[in-house]
Amino acid sequence: MVFRAAFDCLWCGASHVVRSPDDLEGYAQLCPACIGRADENGFLRFRLKSALAERAARVGQPSASSAIVAEPPVDDLSEEMKAYYAARAPEYDDWYLRTGRYSRGPVHDLAWNADLDTATLWLDELPIQGEIVELAAGTGWWSTLLAGKGVLSLYDANELPLDRARDRLLAHGLRAHIHVRDAWAEPDRAVDALYCGFWLSHVPRARLAEFLDLARRWLKPGGIFAFIDSRADPQSGAVDQEVSADLEVAPRRLADGRDFRVVKVYWQPAELEAALRAAGFARAEVTTTSRFFLLGRAAA
Ligand SMILES: C[S@@+](CC[C@H](N)C(=O)[O-])C[C@H]1O[C@@H](n2cnc3c(N)ncnc32)[C@H](O)[C@@H]1O
Repeated sequence: MVFRAAFDCLWCGASHVVRSPDDLEGYAQLCPACIGRADENGFLRFRLKSALAERAARVGQPSASSAIVAEPPVDDLSEEMKAYYAARAPEYDDWYLRTGRYSRGPVHDLAWNADLDTATLWLDELPIQGEIVELAAGTGWWSTLLAGKGVLSLYDANELPLDRARDRLLAHGLRAHIHVRDAWAEPDRAVDALYCGFWLSHVPRARLAEFLDLARRWLKPGGIFAFIDSRADPQSGAVDQEVSADLEVAPRRLADGRDFRVVKVYWQPAELEAALRAAGFARAEVTTTSRFFLLGRAAA
């Protein structure tokens, strides 16, 4: 468990800043109100017990706050991540549709769908037009919306999800340029808008500045960078998938039982805004939906 001085509560989503470097809330990443309700709820109880153990283990160490930045470097998981998403292509949309292993019951699924609607409306209202690039586009969930706004090129490292994206666009009578291309590849032109869905959470912390610099170089001056990404809600993944906001590497299992590891960073809005500004973006604005998503935009 990593101590965080500022976080969105893992249960209710409320933003919280700790008062001292030893606050239990910072270990549990739960707000005081949710900590107070730990006896009513298994997840809250588990986080509280782990936080108590972690804090006790740190007694005698020079400073608990040193843990805020002391995260180990991540192995290069890029090939494993590509293999995982190639294999997951046929079941990827279950995540959006809350079907199969991603169905979390009517209450949570309703909340998910409400957040998905919020994210879709948010993206639709952005002033995206002209030449648009979508990186790590996957099965093209967002591509139909984007292709209706301008000339879209959608890229992904894997052919299999792109096949699904192609079918989706055809079903909507839309056109786009679809190519296999690594999200880390150097831009070959400057465009009016760049979009990434659920990709920034796959960028290791140590490489965020590098990726944002690349994102800015994809854009003409004034061009818009938009992204949607994950928040660490316990019900966001599959039933057999634990969400950990502390670790940068997360296990992933497919329906057939195959196991993989991916980089998964649950960014906080404020840290992304700061990183966007440091990368030279203007008007950086990162907000959240009620539970599940981060919504970010900035101008090059
Ligand atoms: C979480 S999915 C997001 C898909 C889509 N953007 C969405 O919002 O639904 C991540 C995608 O990144 C792709 N990917 C993994 N590594 C990549 C890389 N190095 N370059 C480009 N795409 C990559 C995977 O194939 C997968 O489609």
